[in-house]
Amino acid sequence: MMWDQRYGEPGFAYGTEPNDFLRASAQRLPAGGEILSLAEGEGRNAVFLARLGFRVTGVDSSAVGLDKARALAEQHGVHVDTAVADLAEYDLGVARWDGIVSIWCHTPRPLRERLHRGVVAALRPGGVFLLEAYTPDQLQHRTGGPPVAEMMMTLDAVRAELAGLELIEARETVREVHEGKYHDGTSAVLQVIAQKP
Ligand SMILES: C[S@@+](CC[C@H](N)C(=O)[O-])C[C@H]1O[C@@H](n2cnc3c(N)ncnc32)[C@H](O)[C@@H]1O
Repeated sequence: MMWDQRYGEPGFAYGTEPNDFLRASAQRLPAGGEILSLAEGEGRNAVFLARLGFRVTGVDSSAVGLDKARALAEQHGVHVDTAVADLAEYDLGVARWDGIVSIWCHTPRPLRERLHRGVVAALRPGGVFLLEAYTPDQLQHRTGGPPVAEMMMTLDAVRAELAGLELIEARETVREVHEGKYHDGTSAVLQVIAQKP
């Protein structure tokens, strides 16, 4: 499995610091709430949120990544729950989470559409969804992300998938991303913060 291989390398593929957009926007998540982090990987974002006092569950298909996530949490004296699962099969639940976080969670489009509809149902009233992902323009930058546009996201598509949530922030933008050797340089990204009424 490609991700197990990448996470089997020494060090942390995307570093141990949280994603910049998450760091800047975490105060939008309901304080102390239960947060689900989709495609959590090696734990940098989950651990950041746990250190802020959120109760965090990270789901990812890579057992190797989530083993490192639990070790990183322990190192920081916090706990994160982990679930090794393919998002195609993972049950997000209904009115289950105060926040759902999606950082670079790139899947084939049909799965993404299902997942985002699931996110709308899985948030509690007042719950917040926070996403950063590459847009198809990222293919021109080649500084990280999947190799095909089909796995990237546009604002128009994601807005439609999140019908039922109110968009608090939503933009396509170009920014510097420096998160380890796999995400490094000028990048075309989508940033969304959306709330369930
Ligand atoms: C670019 S990494 C990002 C990891 C983490 N969100 C971060 O920002 O450090 C993408 C992650 O998506 C996970 N992933 C991709 N497809 C998945 C799927 N269908 N189900 C569960 N996890 C998946 C991979 O295992 C990998 O950890």
